[in-house]
Amino acid sequence: MSLKNEPVPLTLAGPGPKDFSKSQALQLKAHRLIPGGAHTYAKGDDQFPEQAPAFIVRGKGCHVWDLDGNEFIEYGMGLRAVTLGHAFEPIVEAAYKQMQFGVNFTRPAKIEVDLAEAMLELIDGAEMVKFAKNGSDATTAAVKLARAYTGRDLIAICADQPFFSIDDWFIGTTELNAGIPETIAGLTLKFRYNDIDSLWLLFDQHPGKIACVVLEAEAATPPKAGYLNQVKELCEQRDAVLIFDEMITGFRWHLGGAQKFHGVIPHLSAFGKAMGNGFAIAALAGKREIMRLGGLDHDEPRVFLLSTTHGAETHALAASLETIRVYRERNVVEFLWRQGERLRALINQSIAENRLEGLFDLIGRPCNLVFTTHDQNGNRSQAFRTLFLQELIKRGVIAPSFVVSFSHSDADIDRTAEAVYEAHVIYRKALDEGVEKYLEGRSVKPVNRRQN
Ligand SMILES: Cc1ncc(COP(=O)(O)O)c(C=O)c1O
Repeated sequence: MSLKNEPVPLTLAGPGPKDFSKSQALQLKAHRLIPGGAHTYAKGDDQFPEQAPAFIVRGKGCHVWDLDGNEFIEYGMGLRAVTLGHAFEPIVEAAYKQMQFGVNFTRPAKIEVDLAEAMLELIDGAEMVKFAKNGSDATTAAVKLARAYTGRDLIAICADQPFFSIDDWFIGTTELNAGIPETIAGLTLKFRYNDIDSLWLLFDQHPGKIACVVLEAEAATPPKAGYLNQVKELCEQRDAVLIFDEMITGFRWHLGGAQKFHGVIPHLSAFGKAMGNGFAIAALAGKREIMRLGGLDHDEPRVFLLSTTHGAETHALAASLETIRVYRERNVVEFLWRQGERLRALINQSIAENRLEGLFDLIGRPCNLVFTTHDQNGNRSQAFRTLFLQELIKRGVIAPSFVVSFSHSDADIDRTAEAVYEAHVIYRKALDEGVEKYLEGRSVKPVNRRQN
């Protein structure tokens, strides 16, 4: 087997596809065999138009090929995990090399310590780190540690950020709370981002009861000046643990996460996604005083901290070490910001030329661009989101977001901008003439909804 990259003929997605007949045939089977037809709801059929590639067969860089042989430029790859590119050669090589030495033993592998050292070099203020396979496990472990450390049950999470974990403490607070006892969801309180008073209020309403505060240092909206410091000060005044969820921001805002970018160091933080360029690897990092409760050298009640069969599969750790090396050597974060900025400028030009201000908005940092779609009255609209996705797919672009990777070349960005412009022309017509006239199937739906 050769892992060398064969030159891939990148027939940049032409005016377009697209026959989806093979994909559509397999969809029926997938839904019969797998609840939801996929293993992540955000990839589900209800998130994409009817005329869309339903299954991907392979990827290279930022290009993917579906079951019917259609080629696409992709954005937000692997739910933002694949930041370097699909099948990125140095990472594949590193993982493959490690796999040949075995992936899982009866005792720890040396590489566990190697990656621990490398991660702790990146994360300011973190003194210990433990690995996991999923971000959800890492944020849940942070919450458990905080509860054990403080001896308190309540937790405060940011109400304006969409996702922290698949586990009950978070999902129980969403629309998708079937199967989760109210008593568990009731232990989670919510505060508003950039509104320090709303956090003050929670601490005042529940004195001595809040174990931790969980938030992304930044999501779509930047923090107001001083806000993150105020959150940290408040946590410290009230003896609560500050936890940053760096799943998206880590290796994207900065290699050391949004905490490094903003210069505010939490007590615990959870990393994942980009850490392994798509390999299953996540990490909980933080202060020794708290993390050590998961260790073997204290007299406190022990915390069952991230102990799973596959937690330290060696090839995922090797992929992560190599990812860190590539990031450093090739200034990946700088590239992500630069290419995102290039795309943003082009899309904003298209918004202006098609008179879509306030109707199609591009938001977030250049390294993590997302868009919102609105109807003629300015209300958020799933129908218009569907139309936009549909028109992009016709033009060879899959873009549930405009989150770029290290593999999005200038040509990919420019090609995407052309597709966006053409999709915006249709969007404008749909605003003027009615979206139903242009929509070729049912609408997409929000991921976290209660009913199908
Ligand atoms: C901000 C944030 N936190 C946590 C998670 C959970 O990570 P995982 O899907 O690896 O469990 C996600 C996943 O999308 C996320 O976006």
